[in-house]
Amino acid sequence: MRYEPLSSDIYQKNRQSFMAALNPKSLAVFNSNDTYPISADSTLPFAQHTDMLYLTGVDQEETILILFPDAADPKHREVLFLRETNPHIAVWEGAKLTRKAARDLTGIETIYWVQDFEKVFFELAAQCDTFYFNKNEHYRAAVETQTREDRFIEWAQKNYPTHQSARSNPILQKLRSLKSAAEIEQIRKACEITHQGFRRILSFVKPGVWEYEIEAEFIHEFLRHRSDGFAYEPIIASGANSNVLHYTENKNQCQAGDLLLLDVGASYGRYSSDMTRTIPVSGQFTPRQKAVYNAVLRVKNEATKLLRPGVLWKQYHFEVGKIMTSELLGLGLLDKADVQNETTAKPAYKKYFMHGTSHHLGLDTHDYGLLHLPMEPNMVFTVEPGIYLPDEGFGIRLEDDVVVQASGEPINIMAQIPLEADEIEDLMNA
Ligand code: GLY
Ligand code: MN
Ligand code: MN
Repeated sequence: MRYEPLSSDIYQKNRQSFMAALNPKSLAVFNSNDTYPISADSTLPFAQHTDMLYLTGVDQEETILILFPDAADPKHREVLFLRETNPHIAVWEGAKLTRKAARDLTGIETIYWVQDFEKVFFELAAQCDTFYFNKNEHYRAAVETQTREDRFIEWAQKNYPTHQSARSNPILQKLRSLKSAAEIEQIRKACEITHQGFRRILSFVKPGVWEYEIEAEFIHEFLRHRSDGFAYEPIIASGANSNVLHYTENKNQCQAGDLLLLDVGASYGRYSSDMTRTIPVSGQFTPRQKAVYNAVLRVKNEATKLLRPGVLWKQYHFEVGKIMTSELLGLGLLDKADVQNETTAKPAYKKYFMHGTSHHLGLDTHDYGLLHLPMEPNMVFTVEPGIYLPDEGFGIRLEDDVVVQASGEPINIMAQIPLEADEIEDLMNA
């Protein structure tokens, strides 16, 4: 691994918290992601399932974890199955985890090779009534591919039809939404790497540069700081592209007078950061651009203050909608009639600000979190309002990452990344 993993006691604690939520006589299984084929002998780079990272730190394919608190033999309360390593594999693919390395990383004592899984599972299934399966229940998930986890669930239900099944995912959604100090530190590192990337491009952007050249500057800076790479497909959107919410082609040339929307975040230790800045290609905002910019910034600052323990997701978005509506009235983009005629289902502000304001952030960029439950301290959220004006040829979004506190305002862990319009202009013209 290129990064420093967390210490094994964090993974141990995560597993303990998960196991404490299981019903008696239950066993939970977690599988790695597949390595996805492209064609011929090509594959996509391996990307570990984030639940496996959360529970073990193991960033290796073909890994299986069993958690079984009531196992008759204490050594089977936590069992990790790894792809076998041997000198031949070491020559061709580099070293895989040895048993000892896996023990040190995860704090799990019992490590088997993956070919022993079915035999061990058979033995443990006889001691339990319920299997906890881990289906993807994320509110944004739209998965068409059968995962390794799905194949395992099918196999287990076919071969053990008389066991009951239960859901691991809601337990993990709740646990993972509350970050430990060590996790917040990883996210902070990711944010700091993103900061370095942003500083680098501030002196690089000028009329004539291409969006993909800016992407290259970011990844250069990220990798030299031990980042895993982009936390998500970067959006480097100049001019009209800034109004395309998921523009990732990054193929155009930046023109004088245009704005450039940068939604770019580094990943560190598999934890995401998620930043958006919008900067003037020529180093100077027009008065109109600056007025809209400052409106978005005010919404961001006010929205941030609302992220406090006890607040409900829906209520938060409703309040942010009111703040945005007032700014849009101030900019002359909405008038009183627009607001009088709006409905709850279709508020007037949605014409210019059509996405959510926040999402949980962590091992996944759109991280786990049960949105019907009140906010709690140590949840990490983005705050990312925007105003999109296709008729005027620009869109502006600003996005920082914040940590909810027990009392008072959240801590902005991107506070070091330039944000004020004047500061951005000064840095671009330095
Ligand atoms: N970059 C993805 C997002 O802001 O949600
Ligand atoms: Mn973003
Ligand atoms: Mn975001």
